[in-house]
Amino acid sequence: MTDRVVDLRSDTITKPVVAMRLAMASAEVGDDVFGEDPTVRALEDRIADLLGHESGLFTPSGTMANQLGIRLHVAPGQELITDSLAHVLRAEMGAAAVFSGISSRSWSAPRGLLDPAEPLRLMQPNAGTYQVSTRAIVVENTHNFGGGTVQPLEAIIKLREATKPLGVAMHLDGARLWNAHVASGIELSAYGQQFDTVAVCLSKGLGAPVGSVLAGSRAHIEEARVWRKRYGGGMRQAGILAAAGLWALDHHVRRLADDHARARRFAEAVASRFPAVIDPAYVQTNIVIADVGQGGWAAADFVSVAQQRGLRIFAVNERAVRLVWHLDVDDSDTGYAADLVNAMIAETT
Ligand SMILES: Cc1ncc(COP(=O)(O)O)c(C=O)c1O
Repeated sequence: MTDRVVDLRSDTITKPVVAMRLAMASAEVGDDVFGEDPTVRALEDRIADLLGHESGLFTPSGTMANQLGIRLHVAPGQELITDSLAHVLRAEMGAAAVFSGISSRSWSAPRGLLDPAEPLRLMQPNAGTYQVSTRAIVVENTHNFGGGTVQPLEAIIKLREATKPLGVAMHLDGARLWNAHVASGIELSAYGQQFDTVAVCLSKGLGAPVGSVLAGSRAHIEEARVWRKRYGGGMRQAGILAAAGLWALDHHVRRLADDHARARRFAEAVASRFPAVIDPAYVQTNIVIADVGQGGWAAADFVSVAQQRGLRIFAVNERAVRLVWHLDVDDSDTGYAADLVNAMIAETT
């Protein structure tokens, strides 16, 4: 056992920094269910603007923002399609089926990378009276379980051009769109404008304690506001939380490049000894997927032994683990994690 703990389970584990807490404490607030919280309004407007949309809606979680977006486009008994590793399929607890009566199909996408040919082959916009009609496509950027993959803008545009005339909507799960923006240098609005609705999270790499925003047309967001209330997501003096988001937009976007550089450095350190475990060429942002099965480990065993030695990580399947860089880890933590992972794999190979 060790006293040192480096926690790379997720970029959601960060604690709000002091200056962010001060901004929260001094936020001007009102009852947001009555539309009277100026700080929430400021955050919604700012993010809508950044994403190239008319309106925004503050939500307690990324899951709620995704699920509100999806239900605007897909009626009960219709379907959404997405890739088989997508968060909306794998980690939102069947919400689209449970709350909205939506069925889902998926295509397989190595590393979560979007190939527009796959959804175009899969979708059936007007399936008639015997099969389910496809009403929406969900794209995740960056792709979480895919390993932080940045979706190529050209692929998104190609998909949009093919689906728009057919009336198939596109929703972006942009929980980590900030990371895609920083890694690619592409404007947030260039991504955002290709979609009918966009969900972004403030509580991941940006380090806010709570909060996501759904952006879309004024009509879509008005409708989503009603559904948010129905889901129990109407919050009162939520400006305290929105203030954290505004502060994060001012201070924590550009620094995501540090997380990306550290993730890459870690990947290179492991790949230099065990190239089958990690390919650093695939590490584009703050997430690393390591195939510890190639190093002779079951992922669950690797996670528990790593934890005993002071590294907390997450198993994504039986043979792979995920490590996520964030605000609360530095260069020294990165070196520690690389040495520990290398030592563990050396024990079994
Ligand atoms: C890609 C992606 N989308 C959506 C979410 C949902 O966010 P939340 O945990 O705030 O519901 C997450 C959370 O990890 C995510 O990684």
